[in-house]
Amino acid sequence: MGNRSGSYYSALKRITKVANSAFSSRKVYNSIAKSAAKAVHANGCRISFLVPQHEYLLTAGTYGLSDIYLKKGPLDARKSLPEILDGETVFVADATKDERVQHHQIAEAQRISSILGVPIIKQDEVVGEMRVYTHEPHWFSESDNSFLRSVVDICAVILERTESKQVLKQEYKKDRKHTLLTEAPQLPTASLRPASFAHPSESEFAKLLDFYRIEWLYEPRAFPLCWKEGAVAEMFTPDFYLPELDLYVELTTLKQSLITEKNRKVRQLKQLYPDVNIKLLAKDDFVKLLVKYGYGPLGEVKIGQVNKVLFSRSQIQRRVKILAKRISRDYAGQQIVMVGVLRGVICFMADIIQQISLPVTVDFMAISNYGGDGQVVKITKDLDSSITNRHVLMVEDIVDTGMTLNYLLTHLRAHNPQSLNICTLLDKRARRLVDIPLKYVGFEIPDRFVVGYGLDYKEEYRNLPFIGLLNPDVSQVHGDLNSMK
Ligand code: PRP
Repeated sequence: MGNRSGSYYSALKRITKVANSAFSSRKVYNSIAKSAAKAVHANGCRISFLVPQHEYLLTAGTYGLSDIYLKKGPLDARKSLPEILDGETVFVADATKDERVQHHQIAEAQRISSILGVPIIKQDEVVGEMRVYTHEPHWFSESDNSFLRSVVDICAVILERTESKQVLKQEYKKDRKHTLLTEAPQLPTASLRPASFAHPSESEFAKLLDFYRIEWLYEPRAFPLCWKEGAVAEMFTPDFYLPELDLYVELTTLKQSLITEKNRKVRQLKQLYPDVNIKLLAKDDFVKLLVKYGYGPLGEVKIGQVNKVLFSRSQIQRRVKILAKRISRDYAGQQIVMVGVLRGVICFMADIIQQISLPVTVDFMAISNYGGDGQVVKITKDLDSSITNRHVLMVEDIVDTGMTLNYLLTHLRAHNPQSLNICTLLDKRARRLVDIPLKYVGFEIPDRFVVGYGLDYKEEYRNLPFIGLLNPDVSQVHGDLNSMK
């Protein structure tokens, strides 16, 4: 005990010294995180504060945590061990199994075993939290607890200093900007990336997720499916896990005949593990996904003519009127900002605003296109005017995988609009990877390639006054995909 109190004392000495220094707040909190973790024999530490709306935890300082934790961006305070924010100290013995922990796979991959979370309280109000992590299962003693409570009190005092709050806010803004606008890839750490994938389509899919900055883990978990004499007789390991979406994805580019077998396994998995979300992306689905981006070995695929009108001009106009009427009724007495995502939205936006009987302003955003070249998505045109405290209606021509909106919504939410809803003309629900709540939907469409009324294939067909089906020559695409092996 004598030794332990000695290490608490020297840690507190270091902490108060750095707290009283002229270092940047990032440096101060990083140093506190390090001293605190070492004093309680933890391997990592994260100090975070609540941002004004109390929805997100902003990381102020860390020690010993790798990229995947740090680049997750702000943590959703309501989802991640919310009891800490009710003022309780929370102990998690095994983060890879505890249901209060959101991303077991990440915890496992990061070798995070036990977590102790302590609230940072300023005048009876919880303003943030400190978490310490260990690689091995660990029980923290009462003196560890009381030491950490003193450390968080010091954190609260530092936060109190006005300049520190300002700096943090600026750093937060800078971080958000960095996360959202730069090309710096938000990738999992090297250790979580496989040296090679079992199939080229998997590496292609991983590139697509990287582009949209969606975290992924490759084959992180094997699910036992059947047991014989107490031993596991059959396992199933889905290809990908997307922690932010809590979704497993299994790609099947095998022979169609083997898909039946995969389907059986997925069905069995769903029965045995009803809480697990899994999506099977069959070969055709994947091919269609790649055709959408029209690049690489699949980029030169021959596309047939527009061979069927899906929605005629007058059908579209009737539907647009109905949507506009609903919007005008729902937002009666309010002013709205309609934000369109260039360029597919041009026709829909032009038509719908003319039918809305409310004061509206219009703004546009644009993002870079996936090119399979290792780049990550970036905003190429941001909003021209502020949306803070305003009612924002995002307008899209089509929601397909949902990855575009998922990315843009994160950006828009950071501007604190009063409300944020989505209106899309087309909803290709069958292909959804990211679940996005859509308030106004024109038409739900099947998983077919559509063009016209603003929608393109390689920039063509946008000027058609109707929405038509375009038939990609899928047999040739299959040939190309097989030749990628
Ligand atoms: C289309 C559409 C959406 C996006 C939806 O844009 O306008 O923004 O795809 O797809 P998702 O749900 O799979 O992300 P596209 O990239 O084709 O560019 P464009 O608007 O310039 O045609």
